[in-house]
Amino acid sequence: MGHSLTHMAAAMPNINFIGIEVHRPGVGSLLNQVQQLGLTNIRVMSHDAVEVLKHMIPEHSLARVLLFFPDPWHKTKHHKRRIVQVPFLELLHSRLSPEGVFHSATDWQPYAEWMLEMMDTFADFSNSAGQGNYAIKPNYRPETKFERRGQRLGHGVWDLLYINQPKA
Ligand SMILES: C[S@@+](CC[C@H](N)C(=O)[O-])C[C@H]1O[C@@H](n2cnc3c(N)ncnc32)[C@H](O)[C@@H]1O
Repeated sequence: MGHSLTHMAAAMPNINFIGIEVHRPGVGSLLNQVQQLGLTNIRVMSHDAVEVLKHMIPEHSLARVLLFFPDPWHKTKHHKRRIVQVPFLELLHSRLSPEGVFHSATDWQPYAEWMLEMMDTFADFSNSAGQGNYAIKPNYRPETKFERRGQRLGHGVWDLLYINQPKA
């Protein structure tokens, strides 16, 4: 609903953010918060993020891409719908600046393992935590209420942080 984005944008007024989401109520909620908080460093696009990255974002122009809690698509027959796939990583690699950062977080362990394996075998990204390791949650990523509830229930959250540079 935009809470993480407005929290980060308010905490980092000198950084410009683009929020991309297709869920219209979420976009509406975000726009309300932007107005109420008087934020001027957020642009919002209500469109498919892959299309936006392909057609509206110049190459090597992003400092960071944040993908928090992407749809996990639990069933095996739906795994092909997961956004983190090799063509998506190639797109990120081309849109991030050299040494830009891709940061993902998920509360679904099989998707965390899927991303870790895919990212660790993709030659043009380096795992900031070292091959095979998840990252410690950076302070800038706010904990969502779902995450806090999950922690109370003993569920985990996995952060992955990759630098846009070839593996050593
Ligand atoms: C599990 S929700 C997580 C939402 C939010 N990031 C959070 O942490 O609460 C995944 C969101 O991704 C959005 N989404 C999925 N595929 C997308 C795409 N290709 N472009 C833009 N948004 C997409 C869905 O509409 C949904 O709101």
